[in-house]
Amino acid sequence: MERTFLAIKPDGVQRGLVSEIIGRFEKKGFTLVGLKLLQPSRELAEQHYDVHRERPFFAGLVDFITSGPVVAMVWEGEGVIASARKLIGATNPLNAEPGTIRGDLGINIGRNIIHGSDAPETAQKEVALWFKDEELVNWQPTVTPWLH
Ligand code: TYD
Repeated sequence: MERTFLAIKPDGVQRGLVSEIIGRFEKKGFTLVGLKLLQPSRELAEQHYDVHRERPFFAGLVDFITSGPVVAMVWEGEGVIASARKLIGATNPLNAEPGTIRGDLGINIGRNIIHGSDAPETAQKEVALWFKDEELVNWQPTVTPWLH
């Protein structure tokens, strides 16, 4: 079954949006298989955003993501990678559609509340970067038959 890595960034946690955000993925029908609160190290943040290393916003992005608690999560379900990106909305919250997390709850591109893996390869890489195998729970919700 497909899995994706999602992280509520320090702004989302500080603003008290954790339950609102987790609720959206639960209500959609995806399955939570990994969850932890941590303040990421610089090393973890730099590895996570390695693809942006040469971009002008990289230093600020790493400063921000290491500045406070982050809720790191792994979610599972059919098509969860692309669907989570849709639920999250465009990178710049001002361009994100109403109904999406960033569209409903954010204003600033540097404070866009949540991260979601953008493709199967990055999802696999990010899940492995943030979680050990034994921190993930393999389970099937018993309501699944009612969803499909
Ligand atoms: P990116 O991977 O392009 O977006 P997304 O989070 O939607 O996958 O960029 C990573 C993060 O970098 C983004 O969530 C916010 C930050 N960022 C900026 O601060 N300024 C920028 O101009 C861009 C493109 C991103």
